[in-house]
Amino acid sequence: MSNQETPQATPAEGRQAVGAARRRGPFRVGERVQLTDEKGRMNTITLERGGAFHTHRGFLNHDDLIGQPDGSVAVNNIGQQYQALRPLLSDFVLSMPRGAAVVYPKDAGQIVTMADIFPGARVVEAGVGSGALSISLLRAVGDMGYLHSFERREEFADIARGNVETIFGGPHPAWQISLGDFQDEVVKAEAPGSVDRVVLDMLAPWECLDAVATVLAPGGVWINYVATATQLSRTAEAIRADGRFTEPDAWESMVRGWHLEGLAVRPNHRMVGHTGFLLVTRRLADGVDGLALKKRAKTEFTEEDMNAWTPASVGERPYSDRKLRRAARDAMAGTQVEDPEEPTAGE
Ligand SMILES: C[S@@+](CC[C@H](N)C(=O)[O-])C[C@H]1O[C@@H](n2cnc3c(N)ncnc32)[C@H](O)[C@@H]1O
Repeated sequence: MSNQETPQATPAEGRQAVGAARRRGPFRVGERVQLTDEKGRMNTITLERGGAFHTHRGFLNHDDLIGQPDGSVAVNNIGQQYQALRPLLSDFVLSMPRGAAVVYPKDAGQIVTMADIFPGARVVEAGVGSGALSISLLRAVGDMGYLHSFERREEFADIARGNVETIFGGPHPAWQISLGDFQDEVVKAEAPGSVDRVVLDMLAPWECLDAVATVLAPGGVWINYVATATQLSRTAEAIRADGRFTEPDAWESMVRGWHLEGLAVRPNHRMVGHTGFLLVTRRLADGVDGLALKKRAKTEFTEEDMNAWTPASVGERPYSDRKLRRAARDAMAGTQVEDPEEPTAGE
């Protein structure tokens, strides 16, 4: 049979991934555009008919960008040039409204790859915080996947929902978010052994051990992102002592940008020194003993140790309700903010 008789469907035919249309074609009204000036300073604007981007060096009419291709260079009223590009996911998460520290793009990339988040996967996640990691997970599972995110604070859930809807241009078909503690809610929402991947970014992941062991399928991957070495150690020991998981692997990643100018080619002077540690393990089949466990003594923790785990003791900043309400309003409105208290990637 010839190819003409059996038309070959292209993979993308008749389908449109969520948000894909918004990432192609000329700039449209309502879109976010990242402007870079001749000194490399960046600003993100949302295009409005008749709007203008003002600086102390003149103004640029939004109408001069609307209808232009992505990657255009626009000129303001006094001849200042701006390179105009659609922000990438990595640009967006560093400038979106946030109430707590976000997972940085370098770690989100590691999580997606090392936890083997695949298109169509069934993934559960907690806590949601500002939704930075949820966005990467949604990109990875795709429209046909499933991401159920759990968050104990309503204000964070609102911030995350606003950010997810801004970047995807509306609700994502693969996403649902539930309020409450992960360890209590996930076992009510997900059938035992039905989840492919668990992703936790929270203060005390060891409190979720039973819930993770219940919902995760045999061979399923559980990845944890924690800020301190003490959390890392507590989580690893709890996993080992439990016996239903493989020997955990832990690492951190450091990304050092490079300065590239003629013969002056060298690492940047500044970098983000620390974000968090990653720890990954996999669910063993029921009734199987982990190999490494046979050689290890189980570690005990006292009640005093357990009570020492508070947000302040691991250096988390307190999040006031007022700050969270403001970030939620900004996120719902799709506003761009800068947080000078947190490091930015690169120099
Ligand atoms: C650092 S933030 C998460 C940031 C998020 N991954 C991001 O990239 O934007 C930690 C979040 O976990 C939430 N949290 C802590 N323990 C939790 C639990 N047991 N269940 C659900 N949420 C929890 C906190 O309220 C907070 O919003």
